[in-house]
Amino acid sequence: MAADPLIELRNVNKYYGQLHVLRDIDLTVGKGEVVVVIGPSGSGKSTLCRTVNRLETIESGTITLDGQPLPAEGRALARLRAEVGMVFQSFNLFAHKTVLQNVSLAQVKVRRRKRDEADRRSRELLDRVGLLNQAGKYPAQLSGGQQQRVAIARALAMEPKAMLFDEPTSALDPEMINEVLEVMRQLARDGMTMIVVTHEMGFARASANRVVFMADGRIVEDRSPEAFFTNPRSDRAKDFLSKILKH
Ligand SMILES: Nc1ncnc2c1ncn2[C@@H]1O[C@H](COP(=O)(O)OP(=O)(O)O)[C@@H](O)[C@H]1O
Ligand SMILES: [Mg+2]
Repeated sequence: MAADPLIELRNVNKYYGQLHVLRDIDLTVGKGEVVVVIGPSGSGKSTLCRTVNRLETIESGTITLDGQPLPAEGRALARLRAEVGMVFQSFNLFAHKTVLQNVSLAQVKVRRRKRDEADRRSRELLDRVGLLNQAGKYPAQLSGGQQQRVAIARALAMEPKAMLFDEPTSALDPEMINEVLEVMRQLARDGMTMIVVTHEMGFARASANRVVFMADGRIVEDRSPEAFFTNPRSDRAKDFLSKILKH
């Protein structure tokens, strides 16, 4: 990988009580790289994402963003959260705020932008995700796919250095999955650094630079999509792929 590293995890271990959920994780994500993380339920994929923007602490190892260790608290931590955008399975929009207000809110509160400037940028981003004409609506008036695109626009409004997606299409009806994946494909083409937990293998094949396969808290494989899908090395990955590709 020639690109400069943006996100680096070195020998990271995380426990929930007695449960060892991340085991000696080493992962480097270069600037502009798209890494898809797959693996069975409970293998630690969400925990991995959550440690990278420090929604979870770790017991040992180091995580750096752009060469800097993750800050532990205070203003530096708030800045980190803005620099690493996160999109979850559940969209977590504010129900009593309009789409435009949802995208503008943190820009004003965290980035300290003026309301006008924040709204202008929100409109640009809503246009980019195909939702400018929905700006005045409330989340409940939108489909799940539209709400997820608002959540992506909201994260992008903070001008993040990287974006983490944790199963962003898992809660969506099938006909809405593609409109969200298309926004993500475009982001990837635009050079955004992304970690994407997803079982959408078409996305992984088309947009990922690497596929990371996790099982039992370990990274078992970390390879190109082509190599991984045509020739998985581990029995765990073979077994997993045969299950998800069959349904
Ligand atoms: N807050 C928590 N407290 C205790 N155990 C947790 C917590 N979150 C996740 N776990 C456990 O950690 C393991 C990894 O979970 P998770 O990272 O959510 O896996 P995945 O996203 O791959 O399904 C699972 O065994 C899960 O039950
Ligand atoms: Mg998960």
